[in-house]
Amino acid sequence: MLYHIVTYGCQMNVHESEKISFILEEMGYTFTDKREEADVIVFNTCAIREGAEERVFGNVGALKKLKKMRPSMIIAVCGCMTQKEEKAKLFKQKFPFVDVILGTFNLHKIGQYILEAKNKKVLELWQEGALDEEKGYNRTSGQNAWINIMQGCNNFCTYCIVPYVRGREKSRTVENILNEVKEVVKTGQYNKITLLGQNVNSYGKDLTPSVSFTQLLRLITSIEGDFKVGFMTSHPKDITDELIDEIAINDKILKEIHLPAQSGNNRILKLMNRKYTREHYLNIISKIKAKIPNVKITSDFIVGFPTETEDEFLDTMSLVEQAKYDGIFAFMFSPREGTVASKMEGQVPLEIKRQRVNKLLNLEKKIQKEANK
Ligand code: SAH
Ligand code: SF4
Ligand code: F3S
Repeated sequence: MLYHIVTYGCQMNVHESEKISFILEEMGYTFTDKREEADVIVFNTCAIREGAEERVFGNVGALKKLKKMRPSMIIAVCGCMTQKEEKAKLFKQKFPFVDVILGTFNLHKIGQYILEAKNKKVLELWQEGALDEEKGYNRTSGQNAWINIMQGCNNFCTYCIVPYVRGREKSRTVENILNEVKEVVKTGQYNKITLLGQNVNSYGKDLTPSVSFTQLLRLITSIEGDFKVGFMTSHPKDITDELIDEIAINDKILKEIHLPAQSGNNRILKLMNRKYTREHYLNIISKIKAKIPNVKITSDFIVGFPTETEDEFLDTMSLVEQAKYDGIFAFMFSPREGTVASKMEGQVPLEIKRQRVNKLLNLEKKIQKEANK
């Protein structure tokens, strides 16, 4: 019995596919990289931008023929895209040959659903879920081990679908995280641990007693062993001096910070509900650079947010120039159904978004070239 997984989206999803893989291997399946010979194919989907969703529709649709030839094959679609009820229903309607549809909160039940699917179609979504600590992971990222420290997001940036498909912030307990780190270190197979959360800086605020992310880092790095710790993603509104100092002095913490700015213009930042200003952001960048020599800073940007003018976009260009990043991701704003920004007036035409994204990426290329000289 063979299985194949196609993963879209962020590191969190990559890590969740490691859990799906563990569950399937416990059921007796073996991985194949050829989807046409698989007995079970899982699509672990992403909803962050329209492009991501279109790719999923295209690739699932393309399996129709294969399923006709091999009706015993089971196709399952899970993750952020199908967590949205209207998308789950659309899948069912458009692709009646899909056997299992589930969301993010009931991912740990995928094995059971696949067994049930031998007799009937399964569509099950949960509106909320507890943190799942039971299952293991079939780690697939070489010498790097992903460790999830929290789930969900409370920030509701106005463009973003994540809080709707991943729920509110829930932190794992320190004990469970430390146990997982110890297990990973004990294998001797990993020299890097990357802690995952949508906003790692708000780790532990929901625990009693509360624990700060810096405290968690201290506890993790006090575990004996030859490994380094990285983390993503940090939110500029929550990053503390304490954390910056800890990164600076702690040999076991990687000197890499992904700190998405999204925009360099204060009016747009406010419309995005990011809760910091350009000045605050640049101030953090200066602090980080002053305290951590050779630090690598990277960022994400969204261009063409509703009502963004050319001048406001130029503020993003100048922020990129000032921050001197080690790399950036730039995205065209993509309206996500159900978010505040998707209903805003003043949507920016695609052609302008395209121009802006190219300008921003070209600027970053130029900056990198100069830095390399
Ligand atoms: N939790 C992280 C990352 C979230 S998603 C954070 O807060 O930074 C990764 C990136 O996708 C975001 O940083 C943002 O730049 C981009 N993104 C999110 N929603 C988007 C949308 N509707 N359109 C375009 N880009 C988007
Ligand atoms: Fe989305 Fe904002 Fe949460 Fe990041 S912090 S996941 S961009 S809502
Ligand atoms: Fe990640 Fe995409 Fe979901 S970026 S959290 S897989 S919407």
